[in-house]
Amino acid sequence: MKENFFTNSMNLAKKICIGKLNEGSIAVDATMGNGNDTVFLANLVGESGKVYAFDIQEKALLNTSEKLKENGVENVELIKDGHENIDKYVKEKVDVIMFNLGYLPKLSHNITTKAETTLQAVKKSLNLLKEDSVIILVIYHGHENGKEEKLALENLLSSINQKEYNVIKLEFINQINNPPALICVEKRG
Ligand SMILES: C[S@@+](CC[C@H](N)C(=O)[O-])C[C@H]1O[C@@H](n2cnc3c(N)ncnc32)[C@H](O)[C@@H]1O
Repeated sequence: MKENFFTNSMNLAKKICIGKLNEGSIAVDATMGNGNDTVFLANLVGESGKVYAFDIQEKALLNTSEKLKENGVENVELIKDGHENIDKYVKEKVDVIMFNLGYLPKLSHNITTKAETTLQAVKKSLNLLKEDSVIILVIYHGHENGKEEKLALENLLSSINQKEYNVIKLEFINQINNPPALICVEKRG
């Protein structure tokens, strides 16, 4: 059976990762949560690659660490700190930086990504891209904080130099309940 391409932002984000990552690539999961994206990225970069994964919640590190063990994945550095400090830990250029924004559905909705720190992280991430590399942002804007975050990201990213970066925004305009939007920044070659 044929698989639809444009089902949701996360599905598209994964397709972009598949296109950008190879064995030996370097990726960042800026919001590890339960580790689903971390494992996905780690499998794409293989044993000779590396994933840096960030979260501010201890529970996220515990859940992710378990998921990595279950999947036999070892090429991941788990970092308990905010992605706004990405430059303290990632000292090399990377191929993909993935932000799956918002909060973890089954945990406290108060612990969510915030416009101010997300912007700091994205600005720093721009400096970590090599030619052809991408920042992928999946933005849940159904809640107040997410709306503010989306607007802040649109303001920042609509004004970065088009000679240096390609920036796209994808939204599912016929779906109800504010489905997540996707913004992707690609450093031009
Ligand atoms: C939507 S969840 C991520 C889902 C995750 N990628 C997965 O596969 O389960 C967003 C995560 O961002 C985390 N977070 C919030 N603020 C953060 C920050 N400043 N730096 C890093 N992570 C943050 C939250 O703790 C939460 O776990």
